Amino acid sequence: MNPPNPSALLAEGSVRSEAPADDTALPKRAGPRPLPEDALIILPVRNVVLFPGNVAPLTVGRERSRAAAQEAVRLQRPVGILLQSKPEVDEPGAEDLHWVGTTAGILRYITAPDGSHHAICKGLSRFRVLQFLDGYPFAVARVQMIEDPERIDTDIEGRALSLKERAMETLQLLPQVPAEMVAALQTMEGPSQLADFISGVIDISAEEKQALLETFDLKTRLDKLLALLTHRIEVLKVSREVDERTRESISDANRKQLLREQMRSIQKELGEGEEGAAEVAELDKAVADAKMPPEVEKHARKELKRLERMPEGAGEYSMLRTYLEWLTELPWAAEPEPPIDIAEARRILDADHYGLEKIKRRILEYLAVRKLNPSGKSPILCFVGPPGVGKTSLGQSIAKATGRRFARVSLGGVHDEAEIRGHRRTYVGALPGNIIQNLRKVETRNCVMMLDEVDKLGAGGFHGDPASALLEVLDPEQNSNFRDNYLAVPFDLSSVMFICTANVLDTIPGPLRDRMEVIQLPGYTAQEKLEIARRYLVARQLAATGLAPGQCEIGDDALMAIIGDYTREAGVRNLEREIGNVCRHVAMRIAEGQVQKMKIGAAELSVILGPRRFEAEVAMAKGIPGVATGLAWTPVGGDILFVEAARMPGTGKLILTGQLGDVMKESAQAALSLVKARSQQFGIDAGALDKSDIHVHVPAGATPKDGPSAGVAMFIALASLLTGRPVRSDLAMTGEISLRGLVLPIGGVKEKVLAALRAGITTVMLPERNRRDLEEIPADAREQLKLVWIGNVDEALATALGATVPAQAAG
Ligand SMILES: Nc1ncnc2c1ncn2[C@@H]1O[C@H](COP(=O)(O)OP(=O)(O)OP(=O)(O)O)[C@@H](O)[C@H]1O
Ligand SMILES: [Mg+2]
Repeated sequence: MNPPNPSALLAEGSVRSEAPADDTALPKRAGPRPLPEDALIILPVRNVVLFPGNVAPLTVGRERSRAAAQEAVRLQRPVGILLQSKPEVDEPGAEDLHWVGTTAGILRYITAPDGSHHAICKGLSRFRVLQFLDGYPFAVARVQMIEDPERIDTDIEGRALSLKERAMETLQLLPQVPAEMVAALQTMEGPSQLADFISGVIDISAEEKQALLETFDLKTRLDKLLALLTHRIEVLKVSREVDERTRESISDANRKQLLREQMRSIQKELGEGEEGAAEVAELDKAVADAKMPPEVEKHARKELKRLERMPEGAGEYSMLRTYLEWLTELPWAAEPEPPIDIAEARRILDADHYGLEKIKRRILEYLAVRKLNPSGKSPILCFVGPPGVGKTSLGQSIAKATGRRFARVSLGGVHDEAEIRGHRRTYVGALPGNIIQNLRKVETRNCVMMLDEVDKLGAGGFHGDPASALLEVLDPEQNSNFRDNYLAVPFDLSSVMFICTANVLDTIPGPLRDRMEVIQLPGYTAQEKLEIARRYLVARQLAATGLAPGQCEIGDDALMAIIGDYTREAGVRNLEREIGNVCRHVAMRIAEGQVQKMKIGAAELSVILGPRRFEAEVAMAKGIPGVATGLAWTPVGGDILFVEAARMPGTGKLILTGQLGDVMKESAQAALSLVKARSQQFGIDAGALDKSDIHVHVPAGATPKDGPSAGVAMFIALASLLTGRPVRSDLAMTGEISLRGLVLPIGGVKEKVLAALRAGITTVMLPERNRRDLEEIPADAREQLKLVWIGNVDEALATALGATVPAQAAG
């Protein structure tokens, strides 16, 4: 409430004209002037609001206030307590005070031993200031008393009742409530007393209390109080919840701490604590011996300190210990590269592998460069070829030839970057990636690390891009600072000799391929396989079964039969397996005591290995018009494939089946167009063609096939179908066709020719423009096969269907 007359200052000694005339004559020293009946001595207070009926101790600090309180005590009159509207003001004037307050009797006036003065006051009733009076050594004002109405209506009674309930509820939420307070509240009579009592004890600001004091209307006051109490209850509830929760968590933490301490003392009792200390000491020694680079060692020591301070039972303890073990067991030391002896390397490569002259020469060149310039950034070798051609074993030979240890990392199906680069240590069950894991296994950085199946590396995606992680491993610019997520410190990979292997080149991510020197291993001819079997595989399988060389002799005819009739592969893996089967059969016979030694010829094979697995497929194609033999290149070496064409009544549609890719389908379309364009030459009625559907099928239907190189075979199959003339069954062909009838070159010549040879083909038609690849074809294959070089489809027709195509139609 604002003072109606702000100019009514309380300045001490100032004389106001309204003062009674007779009083002015009195000398001031003679004592204070008598108070008028309707005036009160005012006690300004900074932050207490006293309500009628309430008792409160007031600290009386200011001189003027002391004088006021003492005068009131002396006169045995109540004081008027007014809240300062500006608590910071020391000598408050009329405008610094609220004009509504409570009259109070001073029950006791105390001077404490420390010199402070206190007045214990009991609130009596509300009053309103009418006018401040001058001429007193303290504030004095004429006032008007304000009483609550006597009559109580149901509105007020109802409110009072719920106020009481709320108040009880609040008390229950408060932590330590004196029992008297509850009793006082319960015995409280009359709504106005109840309201004043609660207003006095409720935990709100002095200004809020003042607002309650100034609300003269009882009903409104009760409403305000109810609202305040309700809010208070909410706050108390929330704060109690929070309180309980923190108490819970604190006690939980305390409990754990306690248990941990108990465990430590139990461990000490059992002598286990020493184990931890011994462990730390061991690790400490390991760190010292690991020859780490200084910054890594610093990091390791820091982590070791952390370990030392950690209670042994903590979950993190074992994680940290494992980490430190990894760190200390890695080959940090930079040993000198083992010297490379080229002559010795050549000897080892020759001793381990038959043939592969060109490849061995490339490897020796690579080693020579490395020998002359060890610090130079040598390219990464990548062996590409079908399974079982010796990629892995060449890698092992290189390791042997360079005196290095050999490690093998399989990348097939790796689609999580973390498999290469490791998981962060925060990850549960985290481990370093397989590069670091293998280095720990081989215990030296000077090793040959074979990255197998880089072509089967999973695509990047949700788990990061493994190819880019691998790039970091292989890139000589980056790999001296390789960072495994688990280790979190750099490791130098620059002295690791990386060799990659792949079955196909085109699925290797481009950036990776760019960094590699690709060496192709296309596969072996039957003759080469025979040599490999004779020199290596038989001896190895004999040793594996524990047979002496004299006990089991496998003849060349038997080996050739295995190569031709029991296996069909570019490499020699199955060949080796079948030889193993033969050896085990012999070993069993000898062990049973039936024989002393055995000689195995081709005739014995069907007993040991069962019936021949691969008939010459060529027989299938015999004598039926509409079938041509094509040659395909696959990741596992070359293969033959049949193109079958059939004709049936219809509407001129071309039906294609056998899981053909788009390029192959287009090839078939082109072949049909070429045949139609030659219908006159074939003597076919073009109109009749429109009344029939043509179906082209390429078995085996379940294997997806694609590529343009079956074009010639499709064309020949269709030409054969429509002319009714069968294709020579010992003939295979490959080549792309153009709509003008040209035969275009294709890839994989060597693999395709070897596949034809394996399948018992005698004549192979190849595009004229592939003649440059003649060199690639092994000499014995060239000897055994008749190669026909064709420049256009007419030359193909001449070879496949006979020199002259009959002029009359077949159907
Ligand atoms: N020219 C060869 N001389 C001697 N042995 C060979 C030759 N080529 C392959 N081998 C032998 O064939 C077996 C299979 O070779 P290897 O495991 O190296 O094949 P790979 O090319 O790595 O196949 P994959 O692609 O399936 O991994 C090995 O035992 C290997 O010694
Ligand atoms: Mg391999």
